[in-house]
Amino acid sequence: MKTRITELFGVQHPIIQGGMHFVGFAEMAAAVSNAGGLGIITGLTQRTPADLANEIARCRDMTDKPFGVNLTFLPVVNTPDYPGYVRAIIEGGVKAVETAGNNPQQVLPYLKDAGIKVIHKCTSVRHSLKAQSIGCDAVSVDGFECGGHPGEDDVPNFILLPRAADELEIPFVASGGMADGRSLVAALALGAEGMNMGTRFIATKEAPVHEKVKQALLAASELDTRLVMRPLRNTERVLSNAAVERLLEKEKVLGANLKFEDIIEEVAGVYPRIMKDGDMDAGAWSCGMVAGLIHDIPTCQELIDRIMAEADAIIRQRLTGFANA
Ligand SMILES: Cc1cc2nc3c(=O)[nH]c(=O)nc-3n(C[C@H](O)[C@H](O)[C@H](O)COP(=O)(O)O)c2cc1C
Repeated sequence: MKTRITELFGVQHPIIQGGMHFVGFAEMAAAVSNAGGLGIITGLTQRTPADLANEIARCRDMTDKPFGVNLTFLPVVNTPDYPGYVRAIIEGGVKAVETAGNNPQQVLPYLKDAGIKVIHKCTSVRHSLKAQSIGCDAVSVDGFECGGHPGEDDVPNFILLPRAADELEIPFVASGGMADGRSLVAALALGAEGMNMGTRFIATKEAPVHEKVKQALLAASELDTRLVMRPLRNTERVLSNAAVERLLEKEKVLGANLKFEDIIEEVAGVYPRIMKDGDMDAGAWSCGMVAGLIHDIPTCQELIDRIMAEADAIIRQRLTGFANA
């Protein structure tokens, strides 16, 4: 399949693996890229720019296909050394960057000067238009269904994607709730030129996370995610667990008086405990409603091949059959 997204990033299939904290290590990105998608290393999971440089080198040892790095700008306790991370990306010869969380203007000129293609992840049409106006090459339009930070507008992809298609000139991928060939064809029908998946890629053989995380995704249904941190206007969609229920109780009791310090135990520093140690009640971790569509743990190659075969069958048989009836 050829779209403006496959052309932009030089990949075989219009499928991107979004940055994921403590999941997007070199093993994950390389597996997706080797399967013909665009794998992405999560920049800030690496503690320092030197660690990121090392992770990029490890990924290059595992694949000769294009891969990218995610740079997230979210409210965090200590501001990361963004110029250092950008230098590691440029010097590492990476050709694609996924930015997210906030306006990437501060890093864009450096990335563009180095010939890097930038895809900015946005949860609204206005942010997508802003990304286009400052020179991003593409956007990842992240609907309300998504795992992670859906923003505060709560517009699901059935509305958000065609709205984006009506307004944008640069290509975009659909993000949030994407799992299979049906998702891809629907995304293309709504105006996207590919799809970005987070949660689905965690339930793959190569995802470098504890087996309990993968089993939690298999066990979860589409009803098992919760929205946390809404009172802080930093909403995150996470998988329900004991810590999340405790966090939501604090939000209910404290109401508008809630401060980040009140929930620090449930949200700060929990990713390594969950993703590496499998301590599943350690805190809140991002997960999409798409968990309800995840029933197996294939390799990335099996997953992507299956998605492309399904998409092809839907287009050539089901849709063409309807059109020709
Ligand atoms: C465990 C997890 C961690 C994530 N961490 C990040 C992150 O650090 N930066 C980022 O931009 N997006 C992050 N995301 C969002 C994904 O890149 C992607 O946009 C999202 O998962 C898409 O929705 P889906 O889960 O329904 O596929 C994360 C998602 C998950 C599930």
